[in-house]
Amino acid sequence: MALSMTARMFSGRALLRLLVFLAIAFIFSCTLFIWSHPMIINSGGASVISHHNAGGGKKPATHPIDTLIKKAGREYHRLMAKETTDLESAAKAYRYRRGRHPPPWFDKWFKFAQDHDAVIVEDFFDQIYHDLGPFWGVEAAKIRTQAKNFEQVVSVRNGTASQKTDKPRDWMNIWTDLTSTIAEWLPDIDVPINVMDESRLLVPWDDIDQYMKAERASRKIVPKPEVITEYAGLQKLDENPGEPFDLEWHGGNYWENARVGCAPGSPSRNVEAATNFSGPPPMPQGFPERSYEGYVMNWTSARDPCLQPDIRESHGTFVEPISQSTSKFLFPIFGGSKLPMNNEILLPPAMYWSDDPFYSGGEESHGGPWEEKDPGVMWRGAASGGRNKEDTWTRFQRHRFLRMINGTAVQMAEKHSNGVSQNFVLSSYSTYHLTATSRMDLGTWLNSIVDAAFVSLLCFPNPGNEHCWYTDPFFQTKPGKKMQEQYAYKYLPDIDGNSFSGRYRGFLRSTSLPIKATIYSEWHDSRLVPWVHFVPMDNSFVDIYGILDYFIGTGVEEKDKKGNVFVEGAHDEQAKEIALKGQEWAERVLRKEDMQVYVMRLYMEYARICDDNRDRLGFIGDMG
Ligand SMILES: *[C@@H]1O[C@H](CO)[C@@H](O)[C@H](O)[C@H]1NC(C)=O
Ligand SMILES: *[C@@H]1O[C@H](CO)[C@@H](O)[C@H](O)[C@H]1NC(C)=O
Ligand SMILES: *[C@@H]1O[C@H](CO)[C@@H](O)[C@H](O)[C@H]1NC(C)=O
Ligand SMILES: *[C@@H]1O[C@H](CO)[C@@H](O)[C@H](O)[C@H]1NC(C)=O
Repeated sequence: MALSMTARMFSGRALLRLLVFLAIAFIFSCTLFIWSHPMIINSGGASVISHHNAGGGKKPATHPIDTLIKKAGREYHRLMAKETTDLESAAKAYRYRRGRHPPPWFDKWFKFAQDHDAVIVEDFFDQIYHDLGPFWGVEAAKIRTQAKNFEQVVSVRNGTASQKTDKPRDWMNIWTDLTSTIAEWLPDIDVPINVMDESRLLVPWDDIDQYMKAERASRKIVPKPEVITEYAGLQKLDENPGEPFDLEWHGGNYWENARVGCAPGSPSRNVEAATNFSGPPPMPQGFPERSYEGYVMNWTSARDPCLQPDIRESHGTFVEPISQSTSKFLFPIFGGSKLPMNNEILLPPAMYWSDDPFYSGGEESHGGPWEEKDPGVMWRGAASGGRNKEDTWTRFQRHRFLRMINGTAVQMAEKHSNGVSQNFVLSSYSTYHLTATSRMDLGTWLNSIVDAAFVSLLCFPNPGNEHCWYTDPFFQTKPGKKMQEQYAYKYLPDIDGNSFSGRYRGFLRSTSLPIKATIYSEWHDSRLVPWVHFVPMDNSFVDIYGILDYFIGTGVEEKDKKGNVFVEGAHDEQAKEIALKGQEWAERVLRKEDMQVYVMRLYMEYARICDDNRDRLGFIGDMG
């Protein structure tokens, strides 16, 4: 009908040309269709999904992960080209990057770092400047008076560390211990400590912007004769300490408080909190935004809730944190992790300094040789992430991750509900081209390569036993596994709990490969390069199948004509290389000595910001 109408409008040769064109277009689009859509083949009742292009061995020449690994390698080399090995070049790199003289006692800091074989790249300390920057916009006297009068404080006076606390607290003891190991090289300081797990400071973006304007305005390489090279110290403050100080902490909806910390115009700034948490969360259908063909390309943006409003309804931090008590008021408070929009000052997490094997996995054990490991995925942990309840558990990240890699759950979703499960939605098979699913269904594959389970369901209200009426049907709890037992597996996913995940350092230092998703920032972020030292993952986890498929392939050992054993699609060498490079790197830049070096630099900068002479305080000992 449409054609005959068109025919009336054309005549003779024009019509012929049109028909030829349509025929070519038709053939071309069929080819495209076949190439990009999986075909469902029925074999023995189970639906086996196959890619037309997989069987023939014609995969795209370069896997996106190969490209990302290559790019990351170059980034790492660019970073390491900035390494400094003497005081003069370290001070020069400082002035170049920070726009100021280094803080007083920079020579002591440098000597300590060098004596402890630290790798010194100025960029490794970027987090310090991100965290402290806004305080250049607050009067020095105000910062130091508030700090001294807070309830939980770690202090240094005359080279000795001490603590003040309302009651004995682990975090206080551990951070005081860390501080005492470097106190003899430190100026006087008072360091208020956030003793909660959750990060608490949410200053509106517009305020921070004002503070940062003041910071930029104060940035200056002061002429040598004007430079003051000694801290004033806190003796005067001790003689006249002022009133006890506590902020007005408030509750409220965490997302509503947090999004105000996002830049105007960022995707989340004007998105109101979600209220209905039933069913699966929104998940990308297709590749996550800002990814490179489905895989994390920019680790900073992948971790940023300001860029991903969906995180407000798919991460426990925003669904319902265990406790929340936040302030909009900029005040110096130190803690182990935070969201990108939080304003805490980061210290290395207390559990990384602690020798407790629960966190460290036992200092000396990092797992055996790669070749001896089980080639699969291991995860054990609690159903934390916040307070999960009957009508919200489907929005918690750990729950989602475990179900998405549970082959049985995936099979049920595929067979009975078109890929939609209680707490996740599967992408179409044509999104990520998997080798494994050209051979078997996704669930069968996952069941053959994954051992992952909760050790407790953290039911609310707590029934007082192991069970949980609303999550029991979906999860089977298993006994915990010590970290060193987990290191017997090649692949170790790491997912946020109530805040950051405290085993990450242990995973990095192990001979296994961490696969990391998080929305939290830590002290070490600028010294770890994704795809070189660990594998980054999107917070929706839609890329997990692609990641596992790239590294593990089908997981089935086969023999080629010459009798060599191979696993189709696997990139075991690449996995081994990242695992071992990550381990080697962690042994160079995440040691306790590196935490000391970081904290010493942090405290020196902090002492300068608390000093009335801060605009002229500096180190010029290298300038002759
Ligand atoms: C630190 O040393 C100064 C000068 O030596 C002394 O006046 C002050 O009392 C000392 N403070 C502490 C807390 O020991
Ligand atoms: C919440 O969403 C679910 C499914 O998306 C819907 O069935 C339900 O009616 C909603 N509840 C409320 C209170 O709006
Ligand atoms: C990564 O994303 C951040 C935040 O969105 C942006 O500022 C930064 O420039 C990006 N980095 C690269 C290398 O593209
Ligand atoms: C995997 O999913 C099935 C089906 O929902 C469930 O019965 C089983 O307990 C889950 N396994 C684990 C380890 O949670």
